[in-house]
Amino acid sequence: MEIINRRQRMASVARKLRREEDKTIGLVPTMGALHEGHLSLVREARRMCDVVIVSVFVNPTQFGPAEDFTRYPRDLTGDTTKLADYNVDYIFAPPVEEIYPKGFATYVSVENLSEPMEGVARPGHFRGVATVLTVLFNAIRPDFAFFGQKDAQQTLVVKRLVRDLAFDIEVVVLPTVREQTGLALSSRNAYLSDEQRKAAAVLYRGLSQAREVYLEGERNAKRLAETVRAQVDAEPLARLEYVGVVDAETMEKYDRLPEDRPVLIAIAAHVGKTRLIDNIVIQPARPKSGATGRLTLPEGA
Ligand code: PAF
Repeated sequence: MEIINRRQRMASVARKLRREEDKTIGLVPTMGALHEGHLSLVREARRMCDVVIVSVFVNPTQFGPAEDFTRYPRDLTGDTTKLADYNVDYIFAPPVEEIYPKGFATYVSVENLSEPMEGVARPGHFRGVATVLTVLFNAIRPDFAFFGQKDAQQTLVVKRLVRDLAFDIEVVVLPTVREQTGLALSSRNAYLSDEQRKAAAVLYRGLSQAREVYLEGERNAKRLAETVRAQVDAEPLARLEYVGVVDAETMEKYDRLPEDRPVLIAIAAHVGKTRLIDNIVIQPARPKSGATGRLTLPEGA
């Protein structure tokens, strides 16, 4: 495993792998502080691709001025040890100026999909994500890029970015990995005390409760959102920021959920000072094609 810090070197290694060795390249973009959620992406990349590259870069442009950029957990040594166990070929860990050289002035915005939910709560966040991924995709030109369903809106933004800017990349999205309590794994869980960690399980409890209510026949989006809210409000250490009930592919807002479209229920909440997000996807009870009429839920959703 080689750790690469320079963009030029990363680009030339990737070019050689593609051109001279005809290797398929899998990229797992991360901000480090790796946990089992990231490692599930690495495992799948290892299974699907000849060469696995993990980028570790805490991207300043996707943090707002009042957010946790400076205190975001960083542990390249620990990350390197974990990735060595997974037989990763390259870690790309550039300093900020390698991604954003002096005078950097070009940003990428994915309109519409970036605007609701996280877009309201974190203005400019997806512009930062789309910009850094564009730089990484252009430098590495992977065949596959791997993302977690935990960042549901991000996965939609990335798919649209790839489609609209004609990157020849397949975006692979893998299920959210959870603790036994249901808490979705996140690097930010490191900020939580034991008590807060227990309390944070309320996000998934709320989402699961909404799924139950859906399965009992509720199709009113507001009432499903209220179900989530009631659970979170009952946890004294948690403060709800938003619940979104939207189309899982287009992010269109619903009053009444259609029977033939997948629905995303997404939540952001603060537990103490830590902001956490989570979501579930409910697959259509009556999909347009393949009329089994069965309701299926994606594994780990
Ligand atoms: O999901 C993340 O960790 C980041 O948003 C990503 C995709 C690595 C871009 O900085």
